[in-house]
Amino acid sequence: MSKSIILATLLSTTLLAASFAPVAHAEKTLYEQIGGEPVLRKTVEEFVVIMEDDDRINFAFGNTDITKFKQLLFEQLCNVTGGPCEYTGRSMEESHRELAIDNAMFNALAEDVYLAFDRVGVPYRLQNKVMAIFAPMQKDMVK
Ligand code: HEM
Repeated sequence: MSKSIILATLLSTTLLAASFAPVAHAEKTLYEQIGGEPVLRKTVEEFVVIMEDDDRINFAFGNTDITKFKQLLFEQLCNVTGGPCEYTGRSMEESHRELAIDNAMFNALAEDVYLAFDRVGVPYRLQNKVMAIFAPMQKDMVK
């Protein structure tokens, strides 16, 4: 093979590889994989139904404006999963400071979030990705 053929082959291989490169960048965000806004809003609705029936944690929400809470939880879920939302709420430390949350309550709430995702049909694999993002926030909320 002449040098120019080798060079041309190398060049076209490189160009071919480069033309595939954007595919990697175009990988869907977690937000998109979950199903975006409609699925996250449904998850939040379902979570509140489950939480209100869960005596392990519902008392903590006694003084909470639930409509506002749903909007903020949606914004946060959207934001941390790479969606196009700004989170307009308070920090996790500030908003949970007065609530005397212990590990058992934290785990109960996490269980309810999993159940809500289940009910709206979000695959377990994606549920775990969301929960992995939330897990490090535990230290900001638990007393
Ligand atoms: C992964 C864990 C959690 C996440 C991602 C989360 C997320 C949020 C968000 C986004 C807000 C709104 C913040 C704001 O009002 O500015 C909020 C508020 C609240 N959260 Fe959590 N939370 C978690 C754990 C918990 C736990 C374990 C409890 C209690 C069992 C709890 C009880 C509350 C209550 C009662 C409010 C409303 C506070 C108020 O009305 O001032 N949260 N949470």
